[in-house]
Amino acid sequence: MKVIEKVSEMQKWSEAERCAGRRIALVPTMGFLHEGHLSLVREGKKSGDRVVVSLFVNPAQFAPGEDYGSYPRDLERDRLLLERERVDVLFHPPAEAMYPNGHQTHVEAGPLGRFLCGLSRPGHFRGVTTVVAKLFNIVRPHVAIFGLKDYQQFQIVRRMVADLHFDIEIIGHPIVREKDGLAMSSRNAYLDGRERGAARCLHRSLKKAALLVRQGEREAARIVSAVKEEIEREPLARVEYVSLCDPCSLEELEAVDGEALLALAVRIGKARLIDNTLLKA
Ligand code: PAF
Repeated sequence: MKVIEKVSEMQKWSEAERCAGRRIALVPTMGFLHEGHLSLVREGKKSGDRVVVSLFVNPAQFAPGEDYGSYPRDLERDRLLLERERVDVLFHPPAEAMYPNGHQTHVEAGPLGRFLCGLSRPGHFRGVTTVVAKLFNIVRPHVAIFGLKDYQQFQIVRRMVADLHFDIEIIGHPIVREKDGLAMSSRNAYLDGRERGAARCLHRSLKKAALLVRQGEREAARIVSAVKEEIEREPLARVEYVSLCDPCSLEELEAVDGEALLALAVRIGKARLIDNTLLKA
């Protein structure tokens, strides 16, 4: 596996692969990899001839006071995991390469960035769209794979790709869960033993909602309050939001009619955890 840090070297490598007629798959990550990331890599292997994994903890998507400084990092471990998956390139640029002195241009996420996580993390999705657009211009992939745990991010990136005419296929990959249902996330590393046990309430609450819908419940307010109740039974958990919304526009729904996205964010100790599921009536 090649490790590339320089933007110009990454661009040169991609140009040569494109000229040779090979299809490049990109898996953008912030590192501290887990099985969820590795499943994106395996999806990349199926959708491209070459797989590039980018590893960059993007300062622009963290607000002041958020966990940019303490975000878990372990480059050596990540490198070994990716080598084992036979990834072709690990792109690991320093922050000065991505945001050189004088940098002032950003990509603004539209209304999709204002719902859900956008409410409590203003500027977050602007940071995401900006860095993803940069990665697209540097790696020049034919296809990019995103995890559906960050469902809002996936929809925002899809919108950006359509709006800015990036010629890139965007694939959303299903959430990978631990045995007890907790969605895999680098931020799970923040949880101590008790908090890790408490974190099971997220998946439990999503399952409760799915059961209610299967039993015929359609009213969003009742489903949302049942989900909140389930989470709040766990004393260590604090609900940030629970939203039942349209899976495309992310606008809140009054009733489940067809497909609806149930998305939530919960704080447990130092960790802010998100999860979601699609409900079908
Ligand atoms: O999902 C992530 O890990 C990040 O938001 C991404 C897409 C790598 C951009 O920094």
